[in-house]
Amino acid sequence: MKIISAINFKGGVGKTTITWLLAKFLAVKNQKNVLVVDIDSQMCLTLAVHFDEEKGRFKKDFESWYLQHIKNKKTFLDALESFEKGKGNFLDYPISASMIYKMSEKLHFIPSTDDMYWLESDISNRDRVKSFVKVFLNKLEHTTNFDYDYVFFDCPAYFNALTHSVLSNSDLIIIPVNPDVFASTDINEMLEGLSRRIQPLPPAKIGVVMNKAKTMRDVYLTPESKKFLKDAKQAKTSIEHRGISIEVFDSCIPEKGDIKKAMPTEKFPQEFEECFSSLWSKLKGLVE
Ligand SMILES: Nc1ncnc2c1ncn2[C@@H]1O[C@H](COP(=O)(O)OP(=O)(O)OP(=O)(O)O)[C@@H](O)[C@H]1O
Ligand SMILES: [Mg+2]
Repeated sequence: MKIISAINFKGGVGKTTITWLLAKFLAVKNQKNVLVVDIDSQMCLTLAVHFDEEKGRFKKDFESWYLQHIKNKKTFLDALESFEKGKGNFLDYPISASMIYKMSEKLHFIPSTDDMYWLESDISNRDRVKSFVKVFLNKLEHTTNFDYDYVFFDCPAYFNALTHSVLSNSDLIIIPVNPDVFASTDINEMLEGLSRRIQPLPPAKIGVVMNKAKTMRDVYLTPESKKFLKDAKQAKTSIEHRGISIEVFDSCIPEKGDIKKAMPTEKFPQEFEECFSSLWSKLKGLVE
């Protein structure tokens, strides 16, 4: 079971989009067993996949499952709070089908809840929260019938004890960047800050992916996007001096208005197949 997370403290760069489409690519196109966990209090992924915009409510099947999930206190946050209040290095809390929503045989999902907003102010034992993800994954892998090849975490654009826990237990951290001046400065500053807080960083491999790349005739990067990709590669050099190993990929995800529509569909969108296939062939080398 490999753990993959996406992080960038810059909002709107595509953490949620890439996490979800990559997870769906592996489940639908590669027949992998995949779990995706939304740990963002803004619930963007939970909404993008399960919310019916026309009707202004969650899709029927999901809605009834979700209401029970919250009512029966089976959310990821409930598990975390139970662990935080407990003792010992194990999770005395069931991981069952009422916690994990089966979207298909291969693709499973743990939604977020808006209570996640209060996580930072409600927790009293920050160190226990930091060790939660390790204990959770250990229980998931060794004591349940769920047999995942990959577990993805959709992280928020901020850093808290739970993000700390996710990042320090990831095999691969994807950093999406956009073709702008922050593409290079942001990753440098973020990784420098993270490496001071998560010791040792990285336990994971780190892959930088340019998202919303501007292309010509859907194929070539525009000179401007090329320049920002080059800047990101230069940032990699200065980060590596600090002992952090990082790859900046040439395979970019183009800016395409249709990507939002591709989120809730069961199928993997054909128009993104080539770029996700090429991206995965690079990421796979880092994670395996
Ligand atoms: N390649 C793309 N082409 C066009 N639009 C995109 C692309 N990637 C993401 N978007 C759009 O950009 C917006 C932000 O994307 P997304 O929610 O994935 O970013 P995020 O980094 O997860 O944001 P947040 O920091 O709020 O969690 C969304 O409306 C999404 O549909
Ligand atoms: Mg997001």
